[in-house]
Amino acid sequence: MNTITIPSVPLLDGGSIPLVGTGTLFAKGNELADRLAECIYDGYRLIDTAAQYANEVAVGEGIRRSSVPRDEIFVTTKVAGSDQGRGLTRHGLEDSLRRLNTDYVDLLLIHWPNPSRGLAVETWQEMLELHAEGLVKHVGVSNFLPHQLEELYQATGVWPVVDQIQLSPALARTEVRAFLAERGIVAEGWRPLGQAEHALDQIIVHTIAERHGVEPSQVVLRWAVQQGAVVIPASQHRQRWLSNADLFSFELTDQEMIDLATIDLGEAKAWDANTHEEW
Ligand SMILES: NC(=O)c1ccc[n+]([C@@H]2O[C@H](COP(=O)([O-])OP(=O)(O)OC[C@H]3O[C@@H](n4cnc5c(N)ncnc54)[C@H](OP(=O)(O)O)[C@@H]3O)[C@@H](O)[C@H]2O)c1
Repeated sequence: MNTITIPSVPLLDGGSIPLVGTGTLFAKGNELADRLAECIYDGYRLIDTAAQYANEVAVGEGIRRSSVPRDEIFVTTKVAGSDQGRGLTRHGLEDSLRRLNTDYVDLLLIHWPNPSRGLAVETWQEMLELHAEGLVKHVGVSNFLPHQLEELYQATGVWPVVDQIQLSPALARTEVRAFLAERGIVAEGWRPLGQAEHALDQIIVHTIAERHGVEPSQVVLRWAVQQGAVVIPASQHRQRWLSNADLFSFELTDQEMIDLATIDLGEAKAWDANTHEEW
């Protein structure tokens, strides 16, 4: 039990979140429940799901099968686009809690801002109420750009503790992360291996990996956690999920961080939350 130990980073509200977790997009059913139970057994504590993934029942079952106490696990789920708005957000969370078979989630995120409907602020206001009631330990967002975060803050005076964004050395999101860092908001990277952007194929990534005697995937993930960003890579293979969390026995040099900056494709290649919407 606990092959790996994963450090945590502090959150604005006084809590903390593990630096590495496991994603669950596209995974479902028994296979997911068994994989999560194994991941938790191996030391993973942060699990990322969403109402939209239609797998919360399997996530709850994986936690149950792990036999690790609920209060040692950090469960993130997300408000689906169709659950944004007054009354709907509460209802959406109640449905998630029932499916997850739990009394609370550790982190609730607005999945996408979906600006065409203009419901993010009232969704955020309702999330703050759910937080006050203890149904949600921490409140955050996903895919929010700085001006969209500002809107939430202007309306409530409360910043999200986390912004889960598309993030890898190939999509370094420099300006968004600078905004988050200035306000103490933790960046959490989705698709952190940058597969679609070919981050793992880059010669510089392989060169650095060989130098440290690690996998290219570990270099790419280390780049994020070394800057205090949480990562949630997903793998169905134990060797990979073990190596994806084994990021704390080596350190990238300043020069290596500078070299990795050369593979950034730039903000224009990231999914644009001004126009991309999800339900
Ligand atoms: N907030 C959002 O809008 C949003 C959007 C997308 C995703 N997410 C979350 O972020 C999580 C991670 O994103 P993702 O699943 O899209 O991408 P990812 O975790 O970066 O990549 C997953 C892919 O990489 C492979 N892989 C995993 N470890 C590897 C390794 N060490 N070496 C080589 N290949 C490896 C996996 O294959 P194998 O399984 O075969 O190893 C899988 O095909 C999701 O599961 C989800 O929870 C959030």
